[in-house]
Amino acid sequence: MKSAGSLPPVQAVLFDAYGTLFDVYSVGTLAEQLFPGRGEALAVLWRDKQIEYTRLTSMSGRYRPFWDLTRAGLRYACARLKLELTAERESQLLNQYRHLGSFPENKAVLQALKARGVTTGILSNGDPDMLSVAVKSAGYVDDQGRSLLDHLISVETVQRYKTDPATYALGTQALGKPARQVLFVSSNCWDAIGATWFGYTTLWVNRGKLPLEALDTEPTRTGSSLRDVLDFFPAAS
Ligand code: LAC
Repeated sequence: MKSAGSLPPVQAVLFDAYGTLFDVYSVGTLAEQLFPGRGEALAVLWRDKQIEYTRLTSMSGRYRPFWDLTRAGLRYACARLKLELTAERESQLLNQYRHLGSFPENKAVLQALKARGVTTGILSNGDPDMLSVAVKSAGYVDDQGRSLLDHLISVETVQRYKTDPATYALGTQALGKPARQVLFVSSNCWDAIGATWFGYTTLWVNRGKLPLEALDTEPTRTGSSLRDVLDFFPAAS
């Protein structure tokens, strides 16, 4: 992790969901089977359109559920790439999106946080039912089947999408803590920046080794895997 000096003290952690806890590009494998040679292009454009539609609808006060925008993004991406999206292919791809893959280190990190007594949660654009299905299918549960995430917070409550400050405020309200005492973790640089603007202590997990968004704001820290979260919550010695 890129680190300058000691880490700020934090008392809880909130994760972004899509791209951070769930691998949105894992749909690329199925996309590649359905559209040989175009799977990666489809996965990337699908994700970009989905996020673009969240911003478009949110800015114009026309909120629609994340699931609807996910489907809309898929339809647009296929049309743009000239891929024939039959009803069956659409249903297969959307089903895959409901049950996204995890990243290899994620579950162990969530388990370690729980072992250290840290309050954990998700703060996501995703609809509540999408989040609960995804948490279960990624296996983020302990040996007794209890969720490793204490809070599942969806922007649905405020009918706006990130990076609207009202969405980030849901996290501080749910935890009852000031933003700077909460670590917000995202693999999406724009989301880490939105959370930094709001006042959270932030970690950008730069899995894709991408440049920082050129918006004159840096997350509190930049890391390369979810394991970097653990540095903020040292194990009791
Ligand atoms: C989310 C999107 C931004 O989970 O990844 O909020």
